[in-house]
Amino acid sequence: MADQHNAELIELDVEQSIWERSFGVFPLVVVGTREPDGADDLAPKHLAIPMSWQNYFGFVCTPRHNTYQNVRRSGEFAVTYMRPAQTVLASLAATPRCDDGSKPIAGALPTFPAERVQAALIEGGYLFLECELHQIVDGLGDNSLIIGRIVAARVAADAARASDLDDEDLVRDAPLLAYLYPGRFAEIANSTKLPFPAGFKR
Ligand SMILES: Cc1cc2nc3c(=O)[nH]c(=O)nc-3n(C[C@H](O)[C@H](O)[C@H](O)COP(=O)(O)O)c2cc1C
Repeated sequence: MADQHNAELIELDVEQSIWERSFGVFPLVVVGTREPDGADDLAPKHLAIPMSWQNYFGFVCTPRHNTYQNVRRSGEFAVTYMRPAQTVLASLAATPRCDDGSKPIAGALPTFPAERVQAALIEGGYLFLECELHQIVDGLGDNSLIIGRIVAARVAADAARASDLDDEDLVRDAPLLAYLYPGRFAEIANSTKLPFPAGFKR
């Protein structure tokens, strides 16, 4: 194995996107929005994380996508955190639109309606967020950051942490999906407690 301290470093061209030159670990969520004609739209996003220790959630999206336009118009969206067995479903949600602009795959995926916002959630996910638009940050190159305030959230019972449950067992029994951008994925079932420094406080 290469000595990490002495690994040769390759200078990356920052005029180009650097994120394809190595792998990164991301979640894979499906964002649900409502199209102007009332149909559900669904699209996978991996540039997606909590935006605060409070209940805000953000994802990166290009204004070229209907997801962006739908959120800007309706002011709301829903988020499903997908499980490893749902990787194909998440990927299918990125099926290109038909020539007439419709996206039939969005109607073919197994969904149920969010309760506080007008958008669809994916059956079988493990964490479900319903968000009202808080802020859009445009101008990140071709992309924008969409931040929502979480107004409702549900977690699947088998994925919920509990004081009488061991976290290691929980992750093993309800594994997590990691998208290894670009183009690979992993099922995370094995995990180890992080060794926090003594006296650590958030
Ligand atoms: C695994 C995966 C992850 C993706 N992550 C993102 C993302 O983080 N941001 C983004 O704008 N598009 C992302 N996309 C692309 C869009 O989801 C895709 O182009 C989608 O079809 C757009 O649909 P819409 O026009 O209905 O919004 C991803 C696609 C895949 C397959």
